[in-house]
Amino acid sequence: MAKGPKDLFQKCRDYRDSDDARAQGFYPYFRAIEEPHGNYVICNGERKIMIGSNNYLGLAQDERVVEAACEATRRYGVGCTGSRLLNGTIKLHVELEEALAAFLEQEACILYSTGFFANQGALIALTEDDDAILCDRENHASIIDGCQFAPAKLIPFRHNSASSLEMRLKRLPDEAGRLVIMDGVFSMSGDIADLPEIIPVAKRHGATVYVDEAHSLGVLGRQGRGTVDHFGVKDSVDIVMGTFSKSLGSMGGFIAGDGRMVEYLKHRSRCLIFTAALPPSVAGAVKKSLELMQEETWRIDQLWKNTRKMHEGFRSIGFNIGETKTPIVPILIGSEAKAFIFTQRLFEEGVFATPAIYPAVRYGEAIVRTSFMATHTDEDLDRVLEIFEKLARELGTFDDPAYANPGRRKNIFDFRLSDASGEGDVRANGGVVAPEESGLCAAVSR
Ligand SMILES: Cc1ncc(COP(=O)(O)O)c(C=O)c1O
Repeated sequence: MAKGPKDLFQKCRDYRDSDDARAQGFYPYFRAIEEPHGNYVICNGERKIMIGSNNYLGLAQDERVVEAACEATRRYGVGCTGSRLLNGTIKLHVELEEALAAFLEQEACILYSTGFFANQGALIALTEDDDAILCDRENHASIIDGCQFAPAKLIPFRHNSASSLEMRLKRLPDEAGRLVIMDGVFSMSGDIADLPEIIPVAKRHGATVYVDEAHSLGVLGRQGRGTVDHFGVKDSVDIVMGTFSKSLGSMGGFIAGDGRMVEYLKHRSRCLIFTAALPPSVAGAVKKSLELMQEETWRIDQLWKNTRKMHEGFRSIGFNIGETKTPIVPILIGSEAKAFIFTQRLFEEGVFATPAIYPAVRYGEAIVRTSFMATHTDEDLDRVLEIFEKLARELGTFDDPAYANPGRRKNIFDFRLSDASGEGDVRANGGVVAPEESGLCAAVSR
């Protein structure tokens, strides 16, 4: 007898991973914060040192930024009730775009409702089906998803490897358009895009270069201008993307660059045209944060002081923190279960952090992802190191196989972009395989 159509909700009823983790007492996600205070938060009435946010400069709760959001709300209301293209543009959006373009020394800038949309929207609008997007294997999920929806072919290359990139560029047909895309700072490992090596290769092969400054804005470069400024390569980078959800403390994203390119996106990018404009409060807050970031340079100085202290501190205890060069500090733990237990114990000891598991990191090399802020005090940081050291002993972290032989599962990384160097890398749109074997991971890995 015919069984009839498949029940779309069956997989939801079968999904038990989060319930299992809750039952075992180490579910680490969706923790409700009652009061955020930047370097610490209150959860269940208790104070926790926050080392799991991207609020690098501590501007998310700054009174002046909050007041700018309130002022914009009083003036323009709580929403724009329409797309930027139609009725949704307010003067504040235009002012923010001009301020960002001037700050980044770019011709023009267009705001998107999120950084995720900015990446998707630009990749979809700017590429065609005879083009190729050459994508660093560790790029953020919004780029990977953007590549999947874009008409161009996705060609992954080895993380931060100019030689891997060159090999792939050489194989392209002469006439194929090509876009090389990199995170400026990689969101899990904390390492920095090797633009001085990557860009000459890209340019030698006629590629357009696109840099995602999500984790580098406010962190690297003069007054926080990002990785492109850090390396002084502005004239060789064609598209700069950024978000407001990290150093600038709010939400939203942007694309900046050539004026004609931005004009095209404004009229052709569906992720911009078919969604409501950024609310006034957000535009007002981000404009203020951008000003403060430039005026109060002590924030970036202090961020780097704290970052160096934590790199040294974790390493001297014996933690493997990979190749990080930034305030993102991945702490190698090993198995997923151990990363969850470690995170739960941190929380009980008064530290808020989150784990990252496969496919965000290599299988068997789960981490606790920590990130540090300008507003952490020495006392906060010493306490964090003390608790990590205590838990590593208690939980036997350094005895995990990941510590004996890190990097052993090199063939499984990120979104399972193929590691082969053969023709299989040049794949049609949609060729990225979704992970299936790891429990909680699919939904929560980035
Ligand atoms: C490298 C990178 N790009 C883009 C995004 C998306 O930014 P948003 O939070 O503004 O959507 C993120 C956010 O996690 C990110 O880490």
